[in-house]
Amino acid sequence: MKSVVVTGASTGIGWASAKLLLDRGFHVFGSVRKQADAERLKSEFGANFTPLIFDVTDEPAVLAAARQVREALHGEKLAGLVNNAGIAVTGPVLGLSVDDFRRQMDVNVIGPIIATQAFAPLLGADASLKGPPGRIVMISSVAGKNGNPLTSAYVASKHAIEGFSESLRREMMLFGIDVVIIAPGPVKTPIWSKGQEAFDISRYQNSPYLPALQKVSAFMQHLDAIALPPEKIAQLVLDALTLPKPKVRYHIAPDTMRYLLAAVLPKRAMDRIIAKRIGLLPPET
Ligand SMILES: NC(=O)c1ccc[n+]([C@@H]2O[C@H](COP(=O)([O-])OP(=O)(O)OC[C@H]3O[C@@H](n4cnc5c(N)ncnc54)[C@H](OP(=O)(O)O)[C@@H]3O)[C@@H](O)[C@H]2O)c1
Repeated sequence: MKSVVVTGASTGIGWASAKLLLDRGFHVFGSVRKQADAERLKSEFGANFTPLIFDVTDEPAVLAAARQVREALHGEKLAGLVNNAGIAVTGPVLGLSVDDFRRQMDVNVIGPIIATQAFAPLLGADASLKGPPGRIVMISSVAGKNGNPLTSAYVASKHAIEGFSESLRREMMLFGIDVVIIAPGPVKTPIWSKGQEAFDISRYQNSPYLPALQKVSAFMQHLDAIALPPEKIAQLVLDALTLPKPKVRYHIAPDTMRYLLAAVLPKRAMDRIIAKRIGLLPPET
């Protein structure tokens, strides 16, 4: 039985990916942060699911989980690592603290780096292990190529993941470990409403960005209505792990035209379209 590690399996894309991989006969090691989630997933997923408890920013905890997985594999290689865990910190650059940016980069960028370093030996960098090399799937975002305003921290983290993944893909060729990026548009998951990352407009009552934030908030409700089900992303995760020749990057979004337009229009034209739509032009223009 092939084994895969999925980070952030408690909800959303990670949960759906774990479910599909289990349905397709994989053993899944899924990371959670809370014991209660570990218990819930064990009862939802059954015997072929093993919870790993760690925060992706906690290097000793991730390394301990990698040792746990190594023991369970009995000398075989790991078939895949899905770097999925992530958060979305939102708000204007001038309204976020440096700590907000650090938290975003810590979880979405340093976290996958820690997990990659911890699990790469099991994927095949350790030549003493048996079996074919595994693959690394990076859950990026359409924000990995586009920079929408008021989400700069998240956008910066996903641009970083895209660059990191390209370098990593080339370095990992030495071991036959492929690296595949999945870049979804809006997906129906709790990411935008979770914990301290939640989009909290009340924080910006005296901010010049308040009207724009209100428009973006309304737009996010529209996005939620058209958002893809996480199962669609899970299918791409399965493809990335199993197709003989996966693409290097899969883009998937409900409103493809919008991203096509963003790709072909000059940046300055896109700037004005976006700024006009959400009210970021100065009053005299
Ligand atoms: N939803 C979208 O519209 C969308 C679009 C493009 C890309 N993505 C990306 O998809 C990935 C999964 O997000 P999702 O939408 O499925 O959101 P989600 O349902 O909130 O899932 C995020 C997962 O990451 C975990 N996580 C958060 N911080 C963590 C940390 N410090 N250490 C370990 N695990 C942590 C969460 O655990 P807890 O339950 O403990 O918080 C949860 O399991 C993210 O990388 C996100 O950027 C999402």
